[in-house]
Amino acid sequence: MTLRLDDVVKHYRGPSETVRAVDGVTLAVGRGEMVALYGPSGSGKTTLLLIAAGLIAPDAGVVTVEGRDVGSLSRKESARYRREVIGVVLQHSHMMAGVPAIENAALKLLASPVPLLQAKRRARPWLRRLGLDRQGDQLPHQLSGGERQRVAVARALANDPVLLLADEPTGSLDSQRGRSVLELLHRIAHERGMAILLATHDPHAAEIADRAVVLRDGKLHPHGDQGPAAPGGSAPAPAFPGSDPS
Ligand SMILES: Nc1ncnc2c1ncn2[C@@H]1O[C@H](COP(=O)(O)OP(=O)(O)OP(=O)(O)O)[C@@H](O)[C@H]1O
Ligand SMILES: [Mg+2]
Repeated sequence: MTLRLDDVVKHYRGPSETVRAVDGVTLAVGRGEMVALYGPSGSGKTTLLLIAAGLIAPDAGVVTVEGRDVGSLSRKESARYRREVIGVVLQHSHMMAGVPAIENAALKLLASPVPLLQAKRRARPWLRRLGLDRQGDQLPHQLSGGERQRVAVARALANDPVLLLADEPTGSLDSQRGRSVLELLHRIAHERGMAILLATHDPHAAEIADRAVVLRDGKLHPHGDQGPAAPGGSAPAPAFPGSDPS
């Protein structure tokens, strides 16, 4: 199993209340598998991905990637883990200002450190697959929001990660482009045996992914499970209210 989360808990303690952002989540994502993580705003998706990325420590529970305990890594090892083992697309990905798209896509390789020409050669096909063939030399401020988001995806993929953690990677894209990026990710997962955990609000993701789950109040549910029935009624709501059932 590439990624395994075991009873992971993260609570944020405020002055008056505690937010149970992640409240006992167990989830496994295998090689070549793409899992879509849904959930309303504030349900804990980003927190869960940041824990899996080793960027925040859980209060309890264990995260392993290919059998290695992510929580036991030193700061240096944790940075290397993100640079060389996994790919992360943050919800608000940062690009280095004044640095062309191709070098932004090659950033992790450059930090590894791979020489510039070689790093660009490795990053270029990813830009191409993301439809950014012509944008490689443009600076971040010359790119649209959706183009910047795709550079961030290219950057996350450029080091050939075993695991991709992506936080709403299609949030700034129109629905058709978003769909094609999700299909591309699905294809890459199968091609390379890469595991993908993807937080999303995109309804297409559930069709494209191998599996979809829903985080609600920090707890995981199967996708399609509407949770506890509303008080006072047990009959499920019709899929299309007002439609003729016959
Ligand atoms: N650093 C923090 N300190 C305190 N509370 C936090 C912190 N980060 C997140 N939270 C709270 O934890 C809960 C989960 O937040 P999180 O960002 O994981 O949600 P999300 O599912 O990613 O939401 P969205 O779909 O809006 O991106 C929210 O109630 C949020 O306010
Ligand atoms: Mg989020």
